This record gives sequence, structure tokens and C-alpha cells, in this order.
Amino acid sequence: MPALGWAGVARPAPVSRGVTYALASDAQPLHRPVMLAESLQFLQVSAGSVYVDGTLGEGGHALGILQQSEPDGLVLGIDRDPRSVEASRERLGHYGNRVMLVHGNYADMRRIADQRGVAAANGILLDLGFSSRQIDLPGYGLSFQRDEPLDMRYDPVGATAADFLNTANETVLADVIFRYGEERRSRAIARAIVNGRPIATTGQLANLVARALGGRRGGRHPATRTFQALRISANQELEHLSAGLAAATELLAPGGRLVVISYHSLEDRLVKEWLDREAATCICPPELPVCVCEHQPRLRSVRRRITRPTDAEQSSNPRSRSARLRVAERI
Ligand SMILES: C[S@@+](CC[C@H](N)C(=O)[O-])C[C@H]1O[C@@H](n2cnc3c(N)ncnc32)[C@H](O)[C@@H]1O
Repeated sequence: MPALGWAGVARPAPVSRGVTYALASDAQPLHRPVMLAESLQFLQVSAGSVYVDGTLGEGGHALGILQQSEPDGLVLGIDRDPRSVEASRERLGHYGNRVMLVHGNYADMRRIADQRGVAAANGILLDLGFSSRQIDLPGYGLSFQRDEPLDMRYDPVGATAADFLNTANETVLADVIFRYGEERRSRAIARAIVNGRPIATTGQLANLVARALGGRRGGRHPATRTFQALRISANQELEHLSAGLAAATELLAPGGRLVVISYHSLEDRLVKEWLDREAATCICPPELPVCVCEHQPRLRSVRRRITRPTDAEQSSNPRSRSARLRVAERI
């Protein structure tokens, strides 16, 4: 595969850095990148190549890519959360012009790359969802572990989850909680929300759902699925994932790898369907006797089975437990 580069940017001087999983400046432990070794291996990270990290977070995976691609691998890192981009800038800034960090949406990665002179990428990583930082630090309103304003947006523009809860009608609320939370009792929860409005905080919502459903469910807080649904809805996560998969497929250079780590079945289903479709030689409806679509596959499956974190990673980082990694290669 030919080496790609930033257009018009001179190759940087070699730098050598140690592993830096230190504490963040605000003394919060950093997000631990999930399946880091597996991601680097599947991305085939090497010197002289260009990588897009579409979900930069705190830069854990990006740091691994920069270290493994020394002396001159390049990383374009994108995140919707401006606070995460700033945290990554502090952590990765010393890599100079080997790294470009952008506040943006990975669904727009082609435009973002194009504007920065990146015509194609040798590897693209999407590590979906939210980071530990966004759960642990105040201000995001993503979790029932802390009572604070019910916000849930990665990018602080547009409607908050509280805005949605306080204005949507009962049917829409039930649909969102059912579709994005796969919550069987969505109607009971929607009714309780409408009767309990206005809702301003995470604690208020968690208590209201717990009262509507009663008790814990298999060790999980009864509001877990409702919170997942509202987060997906507030951030339009599945719409952006569909657009991001399409953009990544177009941005990859021939032979380049796409690695996606998902954390729940709705995401993983979308990823699997996209990879299957892009690897297929025919996408005609099964009832057609002969192929008429002339579909050209753009991706090749690298490993049909999903990759899961090792037992050791799952026990040392419980947040990795639900992770599933899929990988494909651009034809
Ligand atoms: C699991 S974290 C990534 C952690 C990162 N790999 C690391 O090692 O630090 C997911 C990140 O994706 C970001 N994100 C979610 N949806 C996004 C989107 N559509 N575009 C860009 N970033 C997004 C979140 O703000 C969050 O920082």
C-alpha cells in the first residue's frame, strides 16, 4: 500500500515517547482504551501511514497508533465532544504535526479529511459510544451515578435529553425507549415520565423509572436501558454510525483497514449489516431468480467472527465487557 500523507506538510522529525497512561490533569483516571493491542494489530499500524481515529476520546487509541507508527505515521483524530478534544490535545500535542485533532462528527470525516489535505487513510478506527471520562466527570449528565442536569449531549449544541423528555408525547417517548433501549416496559416508563414532568436531573429520572418498574433487574439499575435510549436519541448515534460507516468506506485507501468497536447490540447489528453488504457480490432481494444489481464489493472481511476482550481485560476493565470488535479491509 502506498504511503499517504498530509498534503503540503513536511514529514515530521522522528520522536520517541514512552507509554503515558498517567493521571489526567484533573486527577481523574484516564479512559482505558478497549482492545488496544487487537485494534493496532487489525489496523496493521506501521510507519509512513495515515490513520483516522473517528472517536478520539482521550486519545488512548490514538496514542497507541502514534507510538506504533513511529517515526512518521500520521493521525487525524475527531471527536464531537470539545472537552475530549482538549484533553487529547494536552496528551498528544507533543507529537507536533504528526497529529491533527478536530472537533467534529465522524459522519463528516470525508469533508474533515479533505479540508486537511488527507485524500485517503490506511486505517480508520471507530470506538463507539462514550468514554469513562464522560461518565466520571460532572457536566455530561449521562449517568444515574451522579445527580446533575439531564443533558447527555457529547456536543453541547441542540436539545438536551431533558428538553426531549419534557416536550415529546407519550407515544414518541415509548417508541424511543423501546427502540434504542430495547426496554420491554417502555410504555409504563413513558407514562410515568409524562405524569412526572418536568424532569430536570439524572437522579429524578432514575428514581422515576425505578418506581415505575420496581427493584433492580439482575443486578442492573432499572433505569439502565432508559438512559441508553435517551443517550442514543440525544446524540443521534445510530444515524451518525450509518453515515460514518459509509464515509469511512469511501475514505479508506485500497488495502486500508476499518476497525469498529461497539458496545451494544443495536450498534453491532448496524456494523455487521454494513460490512456484510459491502462485502457482498450481490445485494438483490432473495426472491429474484437472477442477479440484476451488479453490486461491486468494496470491503473484504478480515475475520468473520467478532473479537471480544480477553478475560484479563474484562476483569481489569469492567467497562470493556460488552465490547465487540469487527474489522474489514478496503478492496
Ligand atoms: C469510547 S470513547 C473513545 C475512547 C478513545 N478510543 C480513547 O482511547 O480514549 C467514544 C468517543 O466517541 C465520541 N463520539 C461519539 N459519537 C461521535 C461522533 N458521531 N463523531 C465523533 N465522535 C463521537 C464520544 O464523544 C467519545 O469521546
